[in-house]
Amino acid sequence: MEKQRIAVLASGSGSNAEEILRHFEGSALAEVVWVGCNRPEAQAGVYGRTRALGLETTPIQADQLKDGTVLKMLRLARADWVVLAGFLLRIPVEMVRDFQGSMINIHPSLLPLFGGKGMYGMHVHRAVKAAGAEESGMTIHWVTEEYDEGDVIFQASCAVKPDDEPEQIAQKVAQLEHRYFARTIDALIRDAVAQTSLQHE
Ligand code: GAR
Repeated sequence: MEKQRIAVLASGSGSNAEEILRHFEGSALAEVVWVGCNRPEAQAGVYGRTRALGLETTPIQADQLKDGTVLKMLRLARADWVVLAGFLLRIPVEMVRDFQGSMINIHPSLLPLFGGKGMYGMHVHRAVKAAGAEESGMTIHWVTEEYDEGDVIFQASCAVKPDDEPEQIAQKVAQLEHRYFARTIDALIRDAVAQTSLQHE
């Protein structure tokens, strides 16, 4: 069986993208073949992180996402899976449809809490703090045409103490993301491959 090909889209620091790259280094199941970022290198750590692991991040523009150029890039990369790892632009419907059942997103809260438009990165952790929530966490979910509304694949939670600042909440959530994101992707791909081989028996 050929290795499954993963494309990652990121917008910022790229710590999750890095974890995913590290996880699949040397894997017989899958490999990260392409990483794209909608911010320039000066504003996004993901370029340096992937370069250190031997993969150049491709800069993309918001317009290229809308006009189908990014979809072409993904097809050219022969991506089987698309992973949104801190990607902050809305995915156009054609791309969602093309990768139905093989595009996933990570969100830094326990969806449906603290999700939707404008809820990303530190905005989420500030809202968690402002609401006085006693727990937060991360959600991995399928990507659909609406923000943060696809079926949940996996969630993990952490306690929020009354004196935790948004930065501390962010750190706790990032730890969960780094612990679980890549292994959830791995499990999904493993299942999908097993299903496909069953169908071919
Ligand atoms: C992650 O916490 C991810 O959950 C969040 O952006 C961060 C990216 O960090 N995504 C969203 O807020 C999407 N709505 P990273 O660039 O270090 O991986």
